[in-house]
Amino acid sequence: MVTDNKINILLIEDEDFDVNRVRNTIKIFPDKLNIKNVVSSGVDALDILTSDTTGYDVIIMDFQIAGALRGEDLIRSIKNVDPSYQIIVITKLTINVSDFNFANRLIEAGAFWYCTKYPGDIEESIYQPTDFIMSIFNAYEKRLLELHSSKSNQKLKKNIEEILKRKTLVSVSETMRRLQQDIKKLAESDISTLVFGPSGTGKELVAYNIHYRSKRKFENFVPINCGSLPNDLIESELFGYEKGAFTGAGNKKEGLFELANNGTIFLDEVSELPLNAQVKLLRVLQEGEIEKIGRTKSIKVDVRVIAATNKNLEEEIKAKRFREDLYYRLNVVQISIKPLTERKDDIAQLTNHFFRLFTSEMGKPMPDVDENIYAALEKYNWPGNVRELKNVVQRLLFYSDGKITADSVKNAIFGRSEKSILDSTVDDLTMKDEIEPLKNVEREFRRRYIKFARDKSSSDADASNKLGIAPPNYHRLCKELGLK
Ligand SMILES: Nc1ncnc2c1ncn2[C@@H]1O[C@H](COP(=O)(O)OP(=O)(O)OP(=O)(O)O)[C@@H](O)[C@H]1O
Ligand SMILES: [Mg+2]
Repeated sequence: MVTDNKINILLIEDEDFDVNRVRNTIKIFPDKLNIKNVVSSGVDALDILTSDTTGYDVIIMDFQIAGALRGEDLIRSIKNVDPSYQIIVITKLTINVSDFNFANRLIEAGAFWYCTKYPGDIEESIYQPTDFIMSIFNAYEKRLLELHSSKSNQKLKKNIEEILKRKTLVSVSETMRRLQQDIKKLAESDISTLVFGPSGTGKELVAYNIHYRSKRKFENFVPINCGSLPNDLIESELFGYEKGAFTGAGNKKEGLFELANNGTIFLDEVSELPLNAQVKLLRVLQEGEIEKIGRTKSIKVDVRVIAATNKNLEEEIKAKRFREDLYYRLNVVQISIKPLTERKDDIAQLTNHFFRLFTSEMGKPMPDVDENIYAALEKYNWPGNVRELKNVVQRLLFYSDGKITADSVKNAIFGRSEKSILDSTVDDLTMKDEIEPLKNVEREFRRRYIKFARDKSSSDADASNKLGIAPPNYHRLCKELGLK
């Protein structure tokens, strides 16, 4: 890099006469241009550039030098060390003075610029000094620009890699492996995609993977939950508005489609989009332009659309809740994710993946996992699919004392259903409009809960034991509540 604000030059030249001419040509800028090193062979030049990767900014090389490594090969080898090195080639006047193909070959090999040396009877300079010096300054500017852009590219690439790592899609089963291949193919295209699958199967994860593996990866991925957009705000959320478009529009607002321009928009729960918004969405997809509220001219947008649903859209069309034309527009390719129970091979791998994820997030060591937990996990029917499995693993780790067994798995799953019956019973009891005396509600709750415990237990003794009440009290309660 520049030291003392000087551009450091490596000169590759094997004739002293020409080394002096180069020195002479640039000596009018002693505080800016510094010939840091002179070498007479290509091999020496490569050695220096490889070992001192930040010491040089611009390379000036004679085209014909002694040794095997020279000319275009040397240019390529230098660019191989670091593509941001800029090379100025100097050649003898006697050859190639008007040979355009020759110049072209040098540039194609990676040279920044080339010039022909003055005849041998001119001793003061090697070439027109202002041109020569300008080319060095320009080469240096280019080197800085390329260094800068390669640095930001590396940063962006690293960010994307990190995102993809967090969004790993575990796929062991045949069906999921096929889905991975589909994602790869879809990432190479811009095709509208509809992701179909029950809740918690990974629809959003698939959309993320398509976007961050596609050429749009450096642009925005904008997820929109169509079910949670308030009906009267959908248009302004999706397309934005101009300042003063309506009362209250104090400032202009960028719509989500503009935000996703050149990137990907993910329309989650697309079946929940009201019909009037469906018409507008269809227009955008057909025309590739949006109409902002309060703006007469439409705006061109280039957005890739991925939509997701857990509803059968064909049935929604029959019920006139979803537009058929929009369906065909979105459903160019359909990806369908199976419920977890239909791909049990994934369960063990997913479980281990989540163990690793959460232990590293919580800063905990990996627990000692009993081999037979997987059989226990495979027996369950996972109505909440992968999301539920993820929650169960989190619960397992939370309660674990370092060891995970099939029993702890049962507790982690059963714990959930115990809670859900409590929740749903309370919800149910509080649905009514009028407030009942507390003792009535308590009685109803006891009746339902004890019935639930009886149904789940092998005997009365078992039930009373689990409920934590003495058997005589249990019998009495059952009688009182009309359960016997
Ligand atoms: N194959 C998989 N590998 C790793 N993690 C997964 C996989 N499938 C789903 N997940 C995880 O499970 C959770 C639920 O996934 P996601 O939100 O993508 O599901 P969804 O189908 O969009 O659910 P919903 O229908 O409820 O919106 C996420 O945390 C996701 O990372
Ligand atoms: Mg989702």
